[in-house]
Amino acid sequence: MSPLAGKRILLGVTGSIAAYKAVELARGLRRAGAEVQVVTTPGAREFVAPLTFQALTGRPLRCELFDPAAEAAMDHIELARWAEWVLVAPASADFLARIAQGLADDLLTTLCLATEAPLWVAPAMNRVMWRHPATQANIGVLRGRGVRVLGPDQGAQACGEEGPGRMLEAEAILRLLAGDGPLSGVSVLVTAGPTREPIDPVRFLSNRSSGRMGYALAAALAGLGAEVTLVSGPVALPSPPGVARVNVETALEMASVVEARAGDAAIFVAAAAVADYRPVHVPGHKIKKRDARRTLELTPNPDILATVAARPDAPFCLGFAAETRDLEANARSKLEAKGLDMIAANLVGGSEGGFESEDNALLVLWPGGRHEFPLLPKQALARRLADLLAVRFRAARGPEPDSGESDARD
Ligand code: C5P
Repeated sequence: MSPLAGKRILLGVTGSIAAYKAVELARGLRRAGAEVQVVTTPGAREFVAPLTFQALTGRPLRCELFDPAAEAAMDHIELARWAEWVLVAPASADFLARIAQGLADDLLTTLCLATEAPLWVAPAMNRVMWRHPATQANIGVLRGRGVRVLGPDQGAQACGEEGPGRMLEAEAILRLLAGDGPLSGVSVLVTAGPTREPIDPVRFLSNRSSGRMGYALAAALAGLGAEVTLVSGPVALPSPPGVARVNVETALEMASVVEARAGDAAIFVAAAAVADYRPVHVPGHKIKKRDARRTLELTPNPDILATVAARPDAPFCLGFAAETRDLEANARSKLEAKGLDMIAANLVGGSEGGFESEDNALLVLWPGGRHEFPLLPKQALARRLADLLAVRFRAARGPEPDSGESDARD
């Protein structure tokens, strides 16, 4: 039986183009056996006709704070007590700002203030509005109060732009609400981005990693219900929604953060481009341009992934391999040499995909299996890789039958 069966859910809908997804959500909640009362802001009625929700839920939609007819049936305080869960989807930037402030200037915000039920919000807005410091501050306040923030998703937006802010699909919200995302409650540690190895106080050795693949993967894993910690080298990317981020600079810093947290992780994803070497001597002052030639002595950095994979309590380990030739052979020997559960390999140095590109293609290998993903935008690719990772993780851990393909092509 679905954990949603019999639950009394107050579904709040605010004025956003994503309101149409709330129709699908109301239908899904009803199918799972929940009782659903829809409450909209006045703006939401511009997007979806009240009768649509009424027909789906079997309850008249509520919108006005001072509606004598509706209040006679169940006043707003009774309604706030009736709700076992409050889910607001879509939650607009304006709505999030109002509940962060504790305003009660319409029925929905009043109910959010008057209820003791857990509150879930699924933000939906333009990417610039989502990234705005005001919105981020409001989200921080709400999270601090225990509000569960679902998404938002990344991708094409109704305004024609691309980025974070899309409301999660109804199906994903239903899974997260029911606590049965494929990785619900699974703790995942992800490394991403380059590392910087100081030469002196103003110079460093680094590489061209943008961090995009690791960040997209962290977001996709959180979307499957995982509790994700992202250990990130210096990148110019905003933190993915719902992901805890720890910033590091050098390989040694990344190694020590990962070492401290690996014991609590069920899955480790090493997407960082860790510098293989670091300078041996790092003077406290800027090196002067005196000599015609200068030799930089380097020493190897620890292999973070191999160290984690060798732990007696090793999590399920996914590594990456960027190769310039013999992709499959090189990746498979890396899989074996580092003792990994899975490796995602891509050809770099060619004209398509790779480090600084928006797109990537991957060959994923595991002991006894393989899967090829064609050239795709990194976010789409990350979602597919996260799905495959969830399948392989469950196959490795649980008694469930293995549903991963062993020689499939996309
Ligand atoms: O051996 P190579 O550097 O090609 O392996 C790449 C994989 O190992 C990536 O998953 C990368 O994040 C990880 N790695 C690591 N620590 C290092 C070097 C690589 O975790 N020092």
